[in-house]
Amino acid sequence: MSATPILYEGKAKILYPTTDPDILLTHFKDDATAFNAQKRGNIVGKGEMNCAISSHLFQLLEAQGIATHWIDRPAPNQMRVRAVKILPLEVVVRNIAAGSLCQQTGLALGTILKQPLVEFYYKNDALGDPLLTLDRLLLLELATPEQVEQLRSQALRINRILTDFFQKCGITLVDFKLEFGLDAQQNLLLADEISPDTCRLWNQADADPTARVLDKDRFRHDLGNVEAAYRNVLERVLAQPV
Ligand code: TMP
Ligand code: ASP
Repeated sequence: MSATPILYEGKAKILYPTTDPDILLTHFKDDATAFNAQKRGNIVGKGEMNCAISSHLFQLLEAQGIATHWIDRPAPNQMRVRAVKILPLEVVVRNIAAGSLCQQTGLALGTILKQPLVEFYYKNDALGDPLLTLDRLLLLELATPEQVEQLRSQALRINRILTDFFQKCGITLVDFKLEFGLDAQQNLLLADEISPDTCRLWNQADADPTARVLDKDRFRHDLGNVEAAYRNVLERVLAQPV
């Protein structure tokens, strides 16, 4: 018997084809990377936890009218999704200064932004996913001007929905990264995943700047208790209906 062919293997997920060309199967891995894969590790149970958290959040967003690639979750670490051509952009929304925003601007960690900041990064590992200007994005034809506006408004809508949801979980949504793709009919769908790998999430019950971290920053910066943080997010997210 031959093994199932892999369509694409990324750092955290494997994509498999299905018998239907419009549907793909995503397998979430326990592998973790940071700093453009210079740091590698394994977070036990991450695949299942991220698959469950992402599935719940995609269903929440669908219920609020956001078109996503999510279909269902046939196994704990597997998600069936609509096949899309991923735009080579990472759309980051920030509510509070952290991470590269602090490093590149000098803003103090935790500074509350007067309004959400939407940024576009070039999804290109060889170049280290650089921050784009609008002119560079258009120069490289990574999206049309109309798509850029659509991406920005969708990202802000998603931010409002997710911020409210995480608030109910007692979690502050500091920032997050989204990816979008186009289906065969050129519809723009939210794709990839939304999980502690792709969001910064702070526990509102803990003011301590290390203890409050419930996301991949625990892995990035060797803060310990990584699995426990992901499980904490999973339990709180699943406890809130979509
Ligand atoms: P940054 O502060 O490192 O630019 O990250 C901003 C947000 O994007 C943060 O929530 C983590 C997420 N992110 C990813 O999902 N993938 C990445 O490769 C990077 C660099 C950040
Ligand atoms: N996912 C990215 C990588 O390895 C970076 C990160 O999330 O910090 O390379």
